Amino acid sequence: MAIIQFPKDFLWGAATASYQVEGAANEDGRKPSIWDTFSRTPGKIKNGDHGDVACDSYHRYEEDIEIMADLGINVYRFSVAWPRVIPDGVGEVNERGLDFYRRFIDKLLDAGIEPILTLYHWDLPQALHDQGGWANRATVDAFVKYAEVLFKEFDGKVKYWLTINEPWCVSFLSNFIGEHAPGNRDLNLALQISHHLLLAHGKTVQRFREIGISGKIGYAPNVEWKEPFSNRKEDIEASRREVGFLLDWFFDPVFKGQYPKFLVDWFNEKGGTFEIKEGDMEIINERIDFLGINFYTGSYSRYKKGHGFFDSENVDIGFAKTDINWNIFPDGFYKVLLEIKNKYGDIPIVITENGACYNNEPEFGRVKDTGRIKYFQSHLASLRRAMDSGVNIKGYCVWSLLDNFEWAHGYSMRFGIVHVDFRTLDRTKKDSFYWYKQLIRNGWYEY
Ligand code: NOJ
Repeated sequence: MAIIQFPKDFLWGAATASYQVEGAANEDGRKPSIWDTFSRTPGKIKNGDHGDVACDSYHRYEEDIEIMADLGINVYRFSVAWPRVIPDGVGEVNERGLDFYRRFIDKLLDAGIEPILTLYHWDLPQALHDQGGWANRATVDAFVKYAEVLFKEFDGKVKYWLTINEPWCVSFLSNFIGEHAPGNRDLNLALQISHHLLLAHGKTVQRFREIGISGKIGYAPNVEWKEPFSNRKEDIEASRREVGFLLDWFFDPVFKGQYPKFLVDWFNEKGGTFEIKEGDMEIINERIDFLGINFYTGSYSRYKKGHGFFDSENVDIGFAKTDINWNIFPDGFYKVLLEIKNKYGDIPIVITENGACYNNEPEFGRVKDTGRIKYFQSHLASLRRAMDSGVNIKGYCVWSLLDNFEWAHGYSMRFGIVHVDFRTLDRTKKDSFYWYKQLIRNGWYEY
């Protein structure tokens, strides 16, 4: 038994994203996003689910904020739906959409909870997609304009801003692997999109500074850890490629102003190319104030010629798994955080997502999600260890406050510390909610 303790001024939070919780898809002038379209495409989403109602947080936000206040979090991470604020992606601002976030943010602040506002958590206005979406450079400028509306509106109220959530998912998972909207399978497209996302990020940070916004700004890439299966050079290199696909590809440009050569070479060999215009890398290299990190899982990598995209196979060394079948690898959390520190320095980090899928249902009003509590315990212990090794961690957000629309899995996979009955929309606090509440109140837990 050990006492795992956190600093007094630690940021404790919970996270959600607009399309996953808001619902009200056709209300107050919101127009479709690529996720509305994708979820209407047969075969893309489990059980044909979509986000029309989701958790109905658009209408039930007051109840949600009461839940947050009871939990005791001091930050709440959510995203703004671009198609609510500028329904066509460019042009007119929709006051009714913006109004929702005005009400919401004021209510959060009244409850003593600081907003962490994500500008882009995947709901690209369909109208922009129809013009080429993120593959079209014009979308970068549209994004900066949209961000500017929110900067001006919420300057002074929102202290923490995030540009893009999980750029790897927006580019590769959505446009190379094809699992997420818009569902393409095209390496060059994915590479170009990854570049445009980074560019959109950099330009937005520059704009933030030019206007003189008072808060802090960063982005929220997702990382995993792939431990080399052995100390053979081939395995180490395979693991480098696997880790680097998420890490180096999305960090080197921001922190060093260049793409990692070993991956550029690898992509080139596979016929992958994309266009970088003069000056782009300087823009992407704009300093950020803090880094959001999303972490869930990892594995072991072993070199295997011709296997997968990276001549590498994942080796299951007998990992326990969550209900979505992801390996539980808390040690990987520690290792990837150390890797980030070693490569990119002492930038303040907020864990913007960490959590587990367990599909426990209420029994007599109680949800005994012990698996999730254990997941939090082991990952927070790794986080503490990383802090003791000098990683500059400022806060931690669980994913997620509520069970919600889990993208291609629809409502079949639950990550919430609060259960949502998707027929009645009733919320039930799970055992993990009460565990987290106690941790926040005490600042420590026993492990
Ligand atoms: C990452 C994404 O940001 C979030 O939207 C998703 O629900 C969780 N991971 C779980 O898959």
